[in-house]
Amino acid sequence: MKQFKCAITYGTYDLFHIGHLNLLERIAQLADEVIVAVSTDEFNALKGKRTVIPYPERARIVAALRVVDQVIPEMNWEQKTDDVLKYQCDLMVMGDDWLGRFDFLKQYCEVLYLPRTEGISTTIIRETMPVKNG
Ligand code: CTP
Repeated sequence: MKQFKCAITYGTYDLFHIGHLNLLERIAQLADEVIVAVSTDEFNALKGKRTVIPYPERARIVAALRVVDQVIPEMNWEQKTDDVLKYQCDLMVMGDDWLGRFDFLKQYCEVLYLPRTEGISTTIIRETMPVKNG
């Protein structure tokens, strides 16, 4: 029996890397069930972002992890409260780059910001990938 029954977390999970895995493994140590809301391509477009890997592939990669029980699409900023209530989550976790941003959920569940893995991010990988010519 773990500290929490159901944890939810949100993210893009583009070019899946060790920082993503470290975070999801830590969440799995805290909760019996782990739900990951992966942002859709449409939601990223709304944020002015474009991923390298399309949503169906990002979602499949995350869903295939042993530490993840369910993947749902993240389609807008407002869905978090509904998700927490719908899936009866007692924990919401994000990396500490989001510190304080989701404190409004504290009326429904515990909100934790875990330290990010240093030295790795999708942006760093993108920037170090060789540019494809022609
Ligand atoms: N994360 C982490 N450690 C990292 C990178 C990400 O703990 N080194 C966490 C984020 O804080 C978030 C989740 O992983 O809770 C998904 O992050 P995402 O934004 O998809 O990944 P980044 O690599 O941070 O992407 P970007 O460079 O586009 O910001």
